[in-house]
Amino acid sequence: MKTVQATAPGKVILFGEHAVVYGRPAIAVPVLDVQTQVSLEPAAAAQGIRMIAVDLDRDFDLAVADPDDPLALIVHLTLAHLGQTKVPDITLTITSTIPLGRGLGSGAAVSTAIGRALAAFFERAIPPAQISALVYEVEKHHHGTPSGIDNTVVAFAQPVYFIKGRPIKRIQVGQPFTLVVGDTGQVAPTHTVVGDVRRRWQADRERYEGYFDEIGAIVQQARVAIEEGLTGPEAIGKLMNDNQELLETIGVSSPELDHLVAAARQAGALGAKLSGAGGGGNMIALARPDHASDIARALWEAGATGVIVTEVR
Ligand code: MEV
Repeated sequence: MKTVQATAPGKVILFGEHAVVYGRPAIAVPVLDVQTQVSLEPAAAAQGIRMIAVDLDRDFDLAVADPDDPLALIVHLTLAHLGQTKVPDITLTITSTIPLGRGLGSGAAVSTAIGRALAAFFERAIPPAQISALVYEVEKHHHGTPSGIDNTVVAFAQPVYFIKGRPIKRIQVGQPFTLVVGDTGQVAPTHTVVGDVRRRWQADRERYEGYFDEIGAIVQQARVAIEEGLTGPEAIGKLMNDNQELLETIGVSSPELDHLVAAARQAGALGAKLSGAGGGGNMIALARPDHASDIARALWEAGATGVIVTEVR
């Protein structure tokens, strides 16, 4: 047995977060510039699985872990999927450049990379749809009502047009475009923000269904604009601004997100919005390629704790 490694990318939601939990479409793309990496090394007999999550400062034995722990759960699910009844003797090390809990898909990426590394260890491969399904089980455990978009885009590592419970549709990007991703530095657990929206929806379903319909309509237009690439990035930028307005209305933006969004627009972004669950985490700005560094600088100056420039293709 030899050491094996696997990776999974981060993601951003371009359009449709939250409404996607309520059956509306959403568009997400992988962010290949940030990755989770998992390596598995064979260990002494009877060690079982030792798990080291460097960024979480965790080092523990699977045998004593709570089976509901997300890291333990994906290991159990993957071993069961592979038909492995005997726990192998390995040390599993997770490192990641995806900021944790900021809407960039860190949880889904960790689970995906663990599943893939375990499969590689047994000289097997798990196709994207199956790894996505395993990761979805973990996501359900930890955030109640996930749409499944995070595990899908991370596992397929391709731009996707996603509707909960339906087969994914890949998006062909007509004209590549540049995004600047700015981190507020605030950690906002997805399940908390999703739960807050659910309570507001329960209190006023009609109004919230209306907001979600409006977001769904923006997503449909965005899909056409992205695929055709003919309307130019201005059209996509305007739709991002429209989506942000609705996200503010449903109460998932934050003063820090609003501040970075405003700074990006002032620096010439064609559009800007929060990305992911909100309440903190990251925002994205659409940039003309020659403007990306100006927008990145403006975000740093406005207090971003991290900035990534990435191309969507
Ligand atoms: C989180 O990345 C996206 C949300 O729409 C939640 C979900 O789709 O499960 C906020």
